[in-house]
Amino acid sequence: MITMRWPIDKTNPQPELLNKAADLLKSGELVAFPTETVYGLGADAYNAPAVKKIFEVKGRMPQSPLLVHVSNYSQVEDLVAGIPSRARQLMEQFWPGPLAVILSASNRVPDEVLGGNTTVGLRMPAHPVALALIEAAGPIAAPSANLSGRPSPVSAQHVLDDLGGRIAAILDAGPTGLGLESTILDLSRSVPEILRLGGVPAEQLEAALGCNLKVASGYKTAYHTGEMKIILCEDEEQWLSLAALAESERVALVHYGRIPGPSMDANKKAYTLSLGGQGPDLFTIIREAETRGYKQLIFAPLPSTLSGLGSALANRIRRAAGS
Ligand code: TXA
Ligand code: MG
Repeated sequence: MITMRWPIDKTNPQPELLNKAADLLKSGELVAFPTETVYGLGADAYNAPAVKKIFEVKGRMPQSPLLVHVSNYSQVEDLVAGIPSRARQLMEQFWPGPLAVILSASNRVPDEVLGGNTTVGLRMPAHPVALALIEAAGPIAAPSANLSGRPSPVSAQHVLDDLGGRIAAILDAGPTGLGLESTILDLSRSVPEILRLGGVPAEQLEAALGCNLKVASGYKTAYHTGEMKIILCEDEEQWLSLAALAESERVALVHYGRIPGPSMDANKKAYTLSLGGQGPDLFTIIREAETRGYKQLIFAPLPSTLSGLGSALANRIRRAAGS
């Protein structure tokens, strides 16, 4: 299969391209599309065989449920068994935006989407292309558009590097912006719980709900990065000794703006990652370092106090390093 790559205007998407992509979805094909977080790999959420293809193409475990992307509230009504008032409040406050909520599923949602659960995860993305595509095609089940275990894609090229030749098309609206996946909040149980830190800071959800939120322990496995090993330094001492390797070996460094230690100043093989969320994003840094053939990517120790997007990024860095 040849994957069609359709460049599309990010703010005023061309209707003819949206229609072509929506027709592919309606005929059971997979289409990758941009959201404000990362690129998604979409299938018609009500088409079980199409949803199955997502798992084949990504190499994803069938018991791992998919988020359903919506563009309006009548779609939500069809997908859930009911909308508790606190869920409605959060949707109104944070949608469209990088918040996914888990609610009791209606019996219309295919089992393939739910991965054997009785709950469904919903998200209304704040991206004009995504919203217009969903309006045209109906609710779209979509995980991040990477091979399972790889960092999420934040550009069309990342998607093609992982899935080129295996999906029908990709709408290419350039880099996604946030470069970090959505926050997932489980509202299906009596006490809400954050299942994944992400684009909406936990503090904002706590303020909206008026309670503290528990964060589920989350990912343990590192991303597959071929030959490249990702290391997160525990402390400054480890960082200084490993950073010294960068001068002579195929080693790149990542720090967070403040370069700890004088030995770093002259070093050119260093990426700066803003823990405030601006500038080059984590997933791009990882994929780029890998493409450049580095054998190790070494992260500076994380600051002891983190908040907002910084906490979510720290979570992904720990995941990257498998720690
Ligand atoms: O920002 C995002 O959320 C991106 C864009 C494309 O929307 N999507 C994304 O999907 O990151 P994915 O599949 O890569 O990660 C979603 C996570 C998975 O770990 C999945 O297990 C969890 O959400 N999830 C989905 N539905 C769930 C459910 N009903 N209950 C518990 N967890 C669920
Ligand atoms: Mg993913």
